[in-house]
Amino acid sequence: MANPLIKITNIKRDFVLGNEIVYVLKGIDLEINKGEYVALMGPSGSGKSTLMNLLGCLDTPTSGHYVLNGKDVSKMRDDELAEIRNKEIGFVFQTFNLLPRTTALDNVALPMIYAGHSKSERVLRATEVLKQVNLADRMDHQPNQLSGGQRQRVAIARALVNKPSIILADEPTGNLDSKTSVEIMKLFGDIHEQGNTVILVTHEEDIAAYAHRIIRLRDGLIESDTTK
Ligand SMILES: Nc1ncnc2c1ncn2[C@@H]1O[C@H](COP(=O)(O)OP(=O)(O)O)[C@@H](O)[C@H]1O
Ligand SMILES: [Mg+2]
Repeated sequence: MANPLIKITNIKRDFVLGNEIVYVLKGIDLEINKGEYVALMGPSGSGKSTLMNLLGCLDTPTSGHYVLNGKDVSKMRDDELAEIRNKEIGFVFQTFNLLPRTTALDNVALPMIYAGHSKSERVLRATEVLKQVNLADRMDHQPNQLSGGQRQRVAIARALVNKPSIILADEPTGNLDSKTSVEIMKLFGDIHEQGNTVILVTHEEDIAAYAHRIIRLRDGLIESDTTK
């Protein structure tokens, strides 16, 4: 069998808070293959966001190993991590995190600037992904001229623009009404069907049901891991 896209071995993450140590992740083992669609669930405070930050190379573990796409990223320096992040990870957040007073096209093209693509390549690719998320007619709109669902679609297009290995979404429907949430989940379904690996955090069972595999965290450990 091919190597997994993500291989995490006995990952621990604790935080020093004053003279106290908070043990958040207490020894996580996890493998995720290319093309999987995974929902990460668990009660508030169970460590979901901490694990997502590690998966997304926004943070490094206190101990343990994380091999992403064949590279051990657990001990990389910040600048090396930033490069991996830009190339390998597409992030989608609950609060969209778009630049205000900046068009949808420019928001989507932004990660390509860091990746060193020319202006014409950026416009071409950003246009392509905005079409993919059905926003061809909103490319010149700024975030405050778009609905919540449209803003999240811009954020999804931005996450896809550099053709990352993984799309990571932390509560992507947390700020959306239920009808718009369904639209966004359909879009994640399409993105997954096109061959992308999708990992999303949610506390809603009906959102998690879109994924093919559900991993439940409790108190910093994996409580269950079920594939449909
Ligand atoms: N930077 C930090 N410093 C101290 N404690 C933290 C830090 N980040 C997270 N925690 C603690 O880790 C626990 C898990 O947080 P988090 O991963 O955000 O949980 P979840 O996303 O499942 O709600 C919480 O108790 C939180 O207070
Ligand atoms: Mg969280």
